Amino acid sequence: METKQLKALFDQEYGADAKPSYCFFAPGRVNLIGEYTDFNGGYVFPAALSLGIFAVLRLREDHTIRLRSTNEVLPVTVSLDRAIEYTKEDEWANYPKGVIRYLREKGYSLQGCDILYAGTLPDGAGLSSSAAILVLTAYMLRSVNGDNSIERVQLAKFCQQVENQFIKVNCGIMDPFSVAMGEKDHAVLLDCHNLTYRYVPLDLPDYRLVILNTCKKRELTDSRYNERRRECETALALLAGHRAVSNLCQAGLKEVEAYITDDTLLRRARHVVSENSRVLEAVNLLESGDIQGFGRLLIQSHMSLKQDFEVSGPELDAIVESALRFPGCIGARMTGAGFGGCALALVEKTRLEAFCSFVTQEYTQMIGLAPEFYVSSLGGGVTHLPD
Ligand code: GLA
Repeated sequence: METKQLKALFDQEYGADAKPSYCFFAPGRVNLIGEYTDFNGGYVFPAALSLGIFAVLRLREDHTIRLRSTNEVLPVTVSLDRAIEYTKEDEWANYPKGVIRYLREKGYSLQGCDILYAGTLPDGAGLSSSAAILVLTAYMLRSVNGDNSIERVQLAKFCQQVENQFIKVNCGIMDPFSVAMGEKDHAVLLDCHNLTYRYVPLDLPDYRLVILNTCKKRELTDSRYNERRRECETALALLAGHRAVSNLCQAGLKEVEAYITDDTLLRRARHVVSENSRVLEAVNLLESGDIQGFGRLLIQSHMSLKQDFEVSGPELDAIVESALRFPGCIGARMTGAGFGGCALALVEKTRLEAFCSFVTQEYTQMIGLAPEFYVSSLGGGVTHLPD
């Protein structure tokens, strides 16, 4: 969206004023491979999208922050003179509320302001709309309150803390890291154990990365996500009884199979350990130009998430299986937390249209929902948009 258009939307919402307004953008992300490895101290390989959330902000003279969105959601007003608490009725606005509260607790003094969010990112689709709104809000509030030295890795950690403690979803660092640190045309290989990272160009001359939205809203994702996290912690405790490991990704498959006897925990740990090795293998294949091999690993990742980690579901399985039946598709898998939301596929670039109609027809017939497709390019991290 153009800043001119954004500012016009803002003026419509809040009324025109002589005071300046500022525009910002935060991308969504797609994780290419490395699912549920982040909070297990492993590798992930996400990329920031050119789809994302925009925001326009104008400062006020008082201690009020008004939060509104062009989506059909309720507006929320926050007073900086009162304690800020999570409330169910505030729904989406709890994300910016959490950011405001934790920024103040960290000693940032904030001025009142009006904010309008507008976006091209589908909500709750597994493309990280939550991390995008958190990082966007933290970045813009700090920028407009005079902070010119925002350190992006710290910003990501801060937003993870807000999601863990205020929203109470025990997510890892991958999403806020991708939103804060994305780089155009690159994916980022991140070691979540120590946050070392490097950018890898996503060079797919003959293929395109297609995002497939099952349009099945994720339900109960938060509680099942937290349950998976607890299962991983229990599996780690069992392994730690045998040898010194501080996270699951430090273990090998043989150890997992030898020391974990409970079937569910064994499968959870097997997914994490095998997925972690797939990430490094995938990056090697991509860097050596073996796109077919990269595609095969995407398929293995999906099978492991479906059978061992059990975070897929009928809609994601149907869309991935349909994608793989199309002759020009060389790999597909669910992406993000799962239980609905999006999958990704690698498709011959000359056959995109045929691919989308093939999957639409099969998926709609099987599931009764129409899917959506996004062929997004890879963009940069959160940013202030020049006027
Ligand atoms: C969600 C979480 C991430 C990560 C993925 C699964 O997106 O926010 O931290 O755990 O699920 O890989």
